[in-house]
Formats: sequence, structure tokens, C-alpha cells
Amino acid sequence: MKIRGQHYNTIYVSEDGWSVEIIDQTKLPHKLETVRLTTLGDAARAIKTMQVRGAPLIGVTAAYGVCLALRDDASDAALDAALRLLATQRPTAVNLRWALGEMDKAVRPVKPGDRARAAYSRARELWELDIEINKQIGAHGLKLIQDHAARKGGETVNVLTHCNAGWLACVDWGTATSPIYQAHDEGLDVHVWVDETRPRNQGSALTAYELGAHGVPHTIIADNTGGHLMQHGMVDLCFVGTDRTAANGDVANKIGTYLKALAAKDNDVPFYVALPYSTIDWSLAGGFDIPIEERGQDEILKIDGRLADGSVVTVDIAAPGSPAANYAFDITPARLVTGLVTERGICEASSEGLRTLYPERRENPSGIKDNERKHG
Ligand code: MRU
Repeated sequence: MKIRGQHYNTIYVSEDGWSVEIIDQTKLPHKLETVRLTTLGDAARAIKTMQVRGAPLIGVTAAYGVCLALRDDASDAALDAALRLLATQRPTAVNLRWALGEMDKAVRPVKPGDRARAAYSRARELWELDIEINKQIGAHGLKLIQDHAARKGGETVNVLTHCNAGWLACVDWGTATSPIYQAHDEGLDVHVWVDETRPRNQGSALTAYELGAHGVPHTIIADNTGGHLMQHGMVDLCFVGTDRTAANGDVANKIGTYLKALAAKDNDVPFYVALPYSTIDWSLAGGFDIPIEERGQDEILKIDGRLADGSVVTVDIAAPGSPAANYAFDITPARLVTGLVTERGICEASSEGLRTLYPERRENPSGIKDNERKHG
């Protein structure tokens, strides 16, 4: 998507043809800076420290991490070590494990001398696939916004989103934001309520930044505001992303998603979850087995802010000495989800719904079919 009229991707191979540039998301919204990754360690650190974050982007970054590792050492042992290291950087988003599986399949059969080349080629395919899939998610989700716009006689359609499932969480388009960008680009009057998303504020720092930079009307709200807005008819539909979706349609997403889904259910507001097929963990029958990342207390006890002179400082915001618990994700049960918006279309959040869209999983629930590599 665009920042001040210029097209950006969150990650790309540099002009040297091998090192990898990322937008450093820990610096946003105060500074737009890119960082150059040249080693496996750089890629692992970028994922761990959340310079890159968001389920699809973590996967693509890990894929390029494998490329950087194999440039240095293309042996089986080095490949194993790279896959092991990258897999342990974040626990909840399954796209990380999926992308590493794809890289392993593409690279292991190749003789060591050709592995780095094969790795860059597969990583590029995953990069392109992410863009294409998110575009398709957007095209399916767009119809939902169009329906609401038609029902409202062209009045503003108000969408609520949580965290950042935008293009900054992917290579481009975003998942939850893709329908919004497509609606906006088509000239529909769409406005987004952006949950600030404590404790890391991915909503106010990242979603608001990217919507603003692309020119989409939006308003940041405190995390607790959504229920009030829904009670007053000020939210037409919710779109959120997911870091892992179980085979029964339960979804793990940023902490607080569950509360929004409860409020949406109570107020008859449709609650849609947008996801690429790489976010589905077919091995999990239900969402409560999804590992929930627990992060450091400082994300709750301190906050970064920009001073008038442009400098960014960190300040304490809590009662000195009080401990904090920082669960990064929660599970929204399928019964609270109106529909899953995927690259193949929209389905009910249920085993049956998912298997209708992905019929190959009916016969082969744990295996990966060849056609999935091409079409998702
Ligand atoms: O901890 P983060 O910032 O990586 O969490 C991101 C989210 O929860 C997103 O909503 C999710 O990855 C969906 S991504 C398009």
C-alpha cells in the first residue's frame, strides 16, 4: 500500500540481490525506517523483537532468514539449525511454522551448492503468494462492505478492527484491512474504528498509521470503547485477523479480540475474521490448544511517546512495584465468529465450513496437497 503516495512493501530483497530490507515496526509511527538483515541471527532477532510482526509477515521473514542462513552454510546441519532457531522466535502465529515447512520442502532435496538459490526462489514465491492471497481476501471481504453500503443507501460504513492485521502485518494489503482498502479505493464511504490495542498499541501506532498514510478515514478508540459504539449502532461490522485458526474455526488473535467478539454477538454486529490458508492449523481440533505467547511486563508498565522536539522517550505509567501479566493473544470461539474470510471465499467458522472451502482436507486432514502450493 502507499505511504505519502509511494508504494511500500514491509519486506523485500535489497538491490544487492541477497540482503533483506524490512520496515522497522518498533520505530513506527514516529519514524519510518528500514533495517537491513544480512544474517540468520538478524532475521531471528527481527521476529523476536517485533521489528517485523503480524502472522503472515513473520512467516515471510522466516523464509528469508533461511535464505540468509544457507548463504553462509548450506549443509543439512545448518538448515536444521536455522529452521529450529527461527521456529522458536514467536509461538502463536502458525504461519511461522508453515513458512519454514515450505522452505524445508523446497530446499532439502536440492544439493547444497544450489540450496541458497532454491531458497531465494521459494521465499520470493511465498512473498508473492502473500500479496496475491491478501488481494483475494480483500475481494471477498469487499462484497460484505458493499452489501452494508447498499443497505445504508450509500451512508458511511463503519468497520471496527483490532490490533494490526494490515499491510504492515503482511507483505502488502493486509488481511482484515484488505477489504477496507479495496472499498476505499473503489470510492465507497468507509470509516474505521481502530482499537488502540494495548499493551503494544499496534492499533494506534500501526493500523492508524497505515490507514492514514493511504488516506482511509479512521478514528482511534481506547480498547474498551467498542462495546459502547456497538450498543449505539455505530459499528456496522468488525474485521479482525488471526494468528492461528484451529480446524473447528476457533481463532487466536491479539489479546482483546474475544471481548470484541462478545460485544459484537450481544449487539448483532457481524464479526468477520480474515485469514490466509497458511494461518489454519489443521492439526488442532480446537483453539484452546493454541499456545498463547506471554510477553515481558514492561510492555504494560511503560510506554513510548514522542516529545514536541520529535525525540522518542520511554516512561513508566504504572504504580511503582506492581507486577503485570502480559498475555499477548486470546481465543475467540468459533460460535462468536460470523464468518471466515479467506482467499477462497467466505465460510462459516466451523469444521464443516472450513472443509467446504478446503475440500482436500476432507480426505487428507494433515497432509499438504500440491495444488495448495499454487492456489492456497
Ligand atoms: O503480536 P503481533 O503484533 O504479531 O500480533 C498481530 C496480530 O494479532 C494480528 O491481528 C494477526 O497477526 C493477524 S495478521 C494479518
